[in-house]
Amino acid sequence: MRAVVSVGGSVLVPTVEANRVSAYAETLRELVAAGHELGVVVGGGPVAREYIGAARELGADEISLDRLGIEVTRLNARLLVEALGDVAVSHPIEAVEDAREVFRRGDVPVLGGTAPGHTTDAVAAGVAEHADADLLVYATSVNGVFDADPRVDDDAAKFDRLSPAELVETVSELELAAGSNSPVDLLAAKLLQRSGLRAVVVDGADPDRVAAAVDGDHGGTDIVPGS
Ligand code: UTP
Repeated sequence: MRAVVSVGGSVLVPTVEANRVSAYAETLRELVAAGHELGVVVGGGPVAREYIGAARELGADEISLDRLGIEVTRLNARLLVEALGDVAVSHPIEAVEDAREVFRRGDVPVLGGTAPGHTTDAVAAGVAEHADADLLVYATSVNGVFDADPRVDDDAAKFDRLSPAELVETVSELELAAGSNSPVDLLAAKLLQRSGLRAVVVDGADPDRVAAAVDGDHGGTDIVPGS
């Protein structure tokens, strides 16, 4: 199958360590060896937040902060490129359109961010939509979509399955709740809704869960169009 994997920065590089990146790359290489066509989008994680926080204190405007975030996502993507070796492109791809071309020639496109104003969640949905992927896997720091942030609310309940419309509604409510963090942002949810893509949200701390998700077996949340 053709799958796009969105790996949160806080999953791939909570701290910058070669072991975690190489474990991810190994799993991704196994999926390619099993015949899957993969694209990977990497987030910025705590390093991006640190840079954005410091630059905001220095008075940078929001577009400049987004640019800084994009630079860090591309830095993280570059680390994964090094670990993936010859199954992947030799440098991070910078546009969704180019990612489709990379798929067409049989390589693994690896991207960070693309343009200011959104996050890599939306980039991954855009790549998956444009390249007509069969599945989009969000490897996040929580195991699915919950009705509240499970990291701050012990009563948060996980959804096993959501329609894209229900995902849009849930994410809108989560983004309104102060301090709460949604595993997929609203623009990404809306892109999923318009494209009819199948997606899953899983705990990405263990890359095996990503492989299991591509193979249809995971304990996260399924986003199922038409459900
Ligand atoms: P992330 O995709 O990592 O954002 O991009 P995030 O959701 O805040 O991070 P996680 O998933 O919780 O770790 C980091 C920042 O880079 C900018 C945004 O400012 C974003 O918050 N960015 C990223 C863009 O402006 N455009 C992009 O395409 C990607």
